[in-house]
Amino acid sequence: MGQKKCAIQQSSEPPHPGAEGELRIAPTRLPPGAEKLFGRKANLKQIDHAWMDSSIHVLVIAAWGGAGKTSLIVEWMARQAVAGWPNFERVFDWSFYNQGTSDRGGNFSDLFITNALEFFGGEEGKRLAGSNMNLRDKGVKLAEFVLRSRSLLVLDGLEPLQHLSGSDKGKLKDPAISALLTGLAQSNPGLCVVTSRLLVADLAHFQSTTVQLLELKALSVPAGVQLLKRLGVSGEKKEFRTLVKDVGGHALTIDLLGRYLARAHGGAIRQRNKVRINKADQEIRGGHAFRVMQAYEKWLSEEAEHGGRQLCVLYLLGLFDRPADSGCLEALRREKIPGLTEPLMGLEDDDWNLTLTALEECGLVLLPTRQGKTSATEFGSTQWVDAHPLIREYFGYDPRHVVLRTIACSGIFKGGRICRSPWRMWNSFIERLLTAAVRVFTPRLSNWYYVLEFTGGRPITVFLITVR
Ligand SMILES: Nc1ncnc2c1ncn2[C@@H]1O[C@H](COP(=O)(O)OP(=O)(O)OP(=O)(O)O)[C@@H](O)[C@H]1O
Ligand SMILES: [Mg+2]
Repeated sequence: MGQKKCAIQQSSEPPHPGAEGELRIAPTRLPPGAEKLFGRKANLKQIDHAWMDSSIHVLVIAAWGGAGKTSLIVEWMARQAVAGWPNFERVFDWSFYNQGTSDRGGNFSDLFITNALEFFGGEEGKRLAGSNMNLRDKGVKLAEFVLRSRSLLVLDGLEPLQHLSGSDKGKLKDPAISALLTGLAQSNPGLCVVTSRLLVADLAHFQSTTVQLLELKALSVPAGVQLLKRLGVSGEKKEFRTLVKDVGGHALTIDLLGRYLARAHGGAIRQRNKVRINKADQEIRGGHAFRVMQAYEKWLSEEAEHGGRQLCVLYLLGLFDRPADSGCLEALRREKIPGLTEPLMGLEDDDWNLTLTALEECGLVLLPTRQGKTSATEFGSTQWVDAHPLIREYFGYDPRHVVLRTIACSGIFKGGRICRSPWRMWNSFIERLLTAAVRVFTPRLSNWYYVLEFTGGRPITVFLITVR
């Protein structure tokens, strides 16, 4: 490990007035993190290491929404504050998070660039901030100011400034931030920490040198259990472990369920199946979890071709209350269901697989992996595509749509008509059964489809899909 940063890198430019040796901390703009952080010891050490190691200029903390990125960096900064900010000269943070989920147009980085130029660049920075210099040049200047001292610069929630999918995936849309980050990747005696739901493509060629990636994994089962207990949840050891595993160690969901169980059900973990994530989210977190989903939906819908396909897959997965059988998904994607599957029409298998793997890279779906290959189509009907419970909940699964559980064959029924099914004998029986069921349960429904889930001879679930 290099002795970072104990000797400040000499810059050819003179430091701006009052810079040397003096500690200046800008008021924090980060959202509050976890009240108490569980697990993450190794990750905190990784950030320590990045701060100490002179060869690391930028640290990118990446993980999907609600995994705990902000909580991690907030905790690390709090520890530095307790220690009196040893060897820090400038501390400045910014969160792009709220701006990304609003419908605000325009350039998200304006306000940040103005504030940062003033903070790091003193009078000169102030003048530049108010000038009509183009954004890229402002980003370049800001990088120059930042590297004049041993600074900690934290950019939280960068994803609204990035392309979400397609060939530009992860690239910054914002020229100022792109120039700033590449400038700092080239030279930085301090550290710039970025948190994002995506990797930062602009920094890809620095990744094995001055840019370090910290891919934040799910919370460990013991950490998840500790969090639930702290929130006041009680029950059997096995039930705790099952809950944490069921939500894939997703910090935000664990926090949400724990708080809701404590408030609405006296902490009894056994009541977990009664909890609707949507309702819990509104009551407990003011809608944070669903805003995460909303942001994904919005970004994907902005990227017409690739994004549209990915969004469509999420809607399809939202129909299932468990990992989706890949045979069933196959049948669905080939069926033209107006308002639902149009973006997938005529899609070649390789494009279908690319769509799934793009979603997997964002951490939105989980695919079966065999012999190093990942695909949902090539493994036949015993394979599955899984999605986080939040996705199923947000993108449409509604338990009221599950109208029947029976033993039958796989296929799709359109308005009572079978579109695809391997066993004819069963077809007419099921068709009559389903038509009768629709008449009884939802007599006014006109545009409806059934999807039958059939896995390896086990009982199937019948989903009723209504098309908007
Ligand atoms: N290690 C942890 N221990 C306890 N609680 C945690 C932990 N990590 C996250 N949480 C809880 O989960 C919530 C979501 O975490 P956080 O906001 O840090 O996620 P994020 O990855 O930054 O999400 P986003 O992508 O939406 O910005 C936090 O408010 C916190 O309550
Ligand atoms: Mg965050």
